[in-house]
Amino acid sequence: MSENNSKLSDPSGRGWVEGYKVIFPKMQHPYTEDEIQTVADVMRHAEGQTQGQYLEKFQADFAAFTGVKHAFAVSNCTNALKLAAIFCRLQPGDEVILPAYTYMASAVPFGDLGAKLVWADIHPKTWTIDPEDILKKLTPKTKVILAVHLLGLPCHMREIMDIAKRYNIKVIEDCAQAMDCRVDGQHVGTFGDFGCFSFHAAKTMTTLGEGGMLVVRDDETAKLVPGIRHNGLCAFEGPRERYWVPAMSNVESFLDGQWPQNFCIGEAQCALGAQQLKGVIANNEILIEQDRRIRAALADIPELSFPEVIPGGRYVVHQYVMHFDGSAFGKNRDDLLDLMTKKYGVRCITQYYPLYRYPLFQKMGLGTHDCPVLEEWWDNSFSLPWWCGIDDESLSIMTDGLRSAVNDLRNQA
Ligand SMILES: Cc1ncc(COP(=O)(O)O)c(C=O)c1O
Repeated sequence: MSENNSKLSDPSGRGWVEGYKVIFPKMQHPYTEDEIQTVADVMRHAEGQTQGQYLEKFQADFAAFTGVKHAFAVSNCTNALKLAAIFCRLQPGDEVILPAYTYMASAVPFGDLGAKLVWADIHPKTWTIDPEDILKKLTPKTKVILAVHLLGLPCHMREIMDIAKRYNIKVIEDCAQAMDCRVDGQHVGTFGDFGCFSFHAAKTMTTLGEGGMLVVRDDETAKLVPGIRHNGLCAFEGPRERYWVPAMSNVESFLDGQWPQNFCIGEAQCALGAQQLKGVIANNEILIEQDRRIRAALADIPELSFPEVIPGGRYVVHQYVMHFDGSAFGKNRDDLLDLMTKKYGVRCITQYYPLYRYPLFQKMGLGTHDCPVLEEWWDNSFSLPWWCGIDDESLSIMTDGLRSAVNDLRNQA
C-alpha cells in the first residue's frame, strides 16, 4: 500500500489505489456500445446540440418512469434543487429543515438564497430524516422540508407529507441517490412539491458525467420552469414575417424579483439519459441482491448493523453504509477500518460527514446543531466499496474481512 500514491488525494475515496484487493471504482458502470453509439449519432445527426428533440424525449421518458406529469432535464441535481428553492420563493431568513446527514449539495442551494438551515436528526433505525425531529424543529418561519433519500433509502414520506400539509410547508425531495426508490410503489420525488435527481457519473444512471432532473407537481409552476431554466428566454406569440422585429425572442421575468438562470443540458446527454433509463431497474435488482447476500453473510455478527427500510419502501442500495458498535470491547469504527484497510485489503470509506461539522457551514453561521442520534451514529458508520455487479470473490473478501476484523477486535479486548 503506497501512502504516497497521488490517487490517495481523491477526496471521494474512489478510484484505484495500489495495495488493495477491493476498492471503490470511480465509475459506477461502463457504457455499453449501444450507449456510445447513441451519443455518436447525436454528434453526427442532431440539428442542434441543445434544447431539441432529445431533451423532449428524455423528459417524457423520465416522466413516464417516475409517474409524473412534469419533468425538466437540467445541468445537475444541485441546480434542480436551486430551481426548487427558487420556486418555493425562499427569502433570506426563511427556515429550511433538512437532514445534517447528506451530501453538501443538498444544502448549498438553500443557503445560497439566504435561508436558515435547520439541521434535523436521523431516525435511529432508518437513518433518514426523522419526522419526529422535524416536528420539534418547526417554527413559524419554516418554509420548506427537504427530504433526502440518501443511499437509496426512502424517507418516511407519509409522515413528512402529513406534517407539511398540517403546517402548510413545501416539501422538496432530494432523489440524487434514489432512482427507482419507491414507497408503496410510488416513486420518490413525486410525494412532495418538487423532486430533484442527479445523473452524475457516480449515480445509478449518468448523462456523460453530469446532469439532473427536476420534477414538479403543480401545473402552474411547471409552465414557468423552461423560462427560468434558460435565461428567461421565450418565443413571441404567433407567426412573424419579420421574425427579427422587435427582437428574435423575448426575455421575461417569470417570478417577480427573481433572475433567471441557465441550467440547460445538451442533446447528447439527453439522448444518453433516455437510453440509460432503460437499465435502471435491472441494475437496482443486482444491487439489492448484493445487499441481501452481504446481510446474510454477516447476520450473526451483532456488532454490525444495516439500515431498516420503512414499510412498503424499496431501498435501491445506492451506497453501502453500515454501522459498527464495538463499545462492548472498547473499539470503534476507526479501529475496524484500520484493520479493513491495512490487514484485509478493503478500501472502506466514510460517507456524508454531518454537514454542521464542515468549516463551510460553521463559517456561514450554520454550525449549531441538536442531532444526538447522528452524533453517536456517524462516528461509527462506514461504507464498503460498492458498485453494480460486484464479483463473488470481492464480495467474499469484504464479508470475510469484516468477520475477521470484528473477531480481531474482540480478541484484542
Ligand atoms: C444527496 C445528493 N444531493 C445532491 C447531489 C448533487 O448532485 P449533482 O452532482 O448532480 O449536482 C448529490 C450528488 O452527489 C447527492 O448525492
